[in-house]
Amino acid sequence: MSHKHQTLGEFIIENQAAFKYSSGELSRLINSIRLAAKVVNHEVNKAGLVDIIGAAGETNIQGEDQQKLDVLANDKFIQTLTNRNIVCGIASEEEDDFISINSQDENNQNKYVVLIDPLDGSSNIDVNVSVGTIFSVYRRVTPVGTPVTIEDFLQKGNQQVAAGYVVYGTSTMLVYTTGAGVNGFTLNPAIGTFYLSHPNMEFPLDGNIYSVNEGNYIHFPQGIKDYIKYCQKEEGDRPYTSRYIGSLVSDFHRNMIKGGIYMYPKCSPKTNGKLRLLYECNPMAFLAEQANGKASDGYTRIMDIQPTELHERVPFLCGSRNMVEKAEEFIQLADPK
Ligand code: AHG
Ligand code: MN
Ligand code: MN
Repeated sequence: MSHKHQTLGEFIIENQAAFKYSSGELSRLINSIRLAAKVVNHEVNKAGLVDIIGAAGETNIQGEDQQKLDVLANDKFIQTLTNRNIVCGIASEEEDDFISINSQDENNQNKYVVLIDPLDGSSNIDVNVSVGTIFSVYRRVTPVGTPVTIEDFLQKGNQQVAAGYVVYGTSTMLVYTTGAGVNGFTLNPAIGTFYLSHPNMEFPLDGNIYSVNEGNYIHFPQGIKDYIKYCQKEEGDRPYTSRYIGSLVSDFHRNMIKGGIYMYPKCSPKTNGKLRLLYECNPMAFLAEQANGKASDGYTRIMDIQPTELHERVPFLCGSRNMVEKAEEFIQLADPK
């Protein structure tokens, strides 16, 4: 079938057979995410009406409590995945601990766990700037029919079976991979259908955009400072352009289309930056690699890092392959390990 006018629903069915563990379960899971994304999209689009329909913490005209959008997005994704009995466990950036689904029910034969950042870039909501949702899917490692354990969630990123994001931007897009490239779908809001608009997305090998919160410059490791100076130097195709939205999903999306590097380095010797390995870095790393890009912490491939706790953070460099490798060179030169 030609790509023209292909819907996400059709795409999922058509590509199901190509997935190596194909049983329809993963397709149902992606379908649930598609549904939750539409619901959250609807809520995000109403954010600007908050003064009229009530702010978080208030009670609305129907007597319902208004929730903050990140809490609401969290609830919608968890509800959708739980109600449809599609996964056996969920971990979310918004929850302290993982959630075990139907742990008492031996008939729950679901194999997959989902990890989500329900609303990424949430500080951008109030100012009408794009936000997103990030998700990551693994096969459980403990036996089916038993309650999930922390082991099911602390898997290396290289074990992911699917990952993706939704960007609630000038248009709403769902971009995902199941390990056979990256495809992007744009929502037609009039009829609530996602269409394949960006087949086989790829990072250009090189780019001229660097994305980093330069306000933290003084705290960056020397190698990052050196790389930023390199980006700003007048030589060859440099200086590069600086673009930083402050929503990882949006910064990544732009860089994948135009070519660029995103960095969230350590901001002091004691911390590991801000981004979470499980909810943000691993899914973005899987997408990046599937799109011919690269993701590392400056020394190690992100997807090869063994997680030790649910909410851990890692320094994150991600984007066009040649740019990430150049940044790694500077980091390793300044601070060999
Ligand atoms: P979240 O809204 O899920 O907490 O994530 C925000 C993240 C990421 O999206 C963004 O790139 C980064 O935080 C921005 O952080 P700074 O404001 O420190 O630059
Ligand atoms: Mn986030
Ligand atoms: Mn978040």
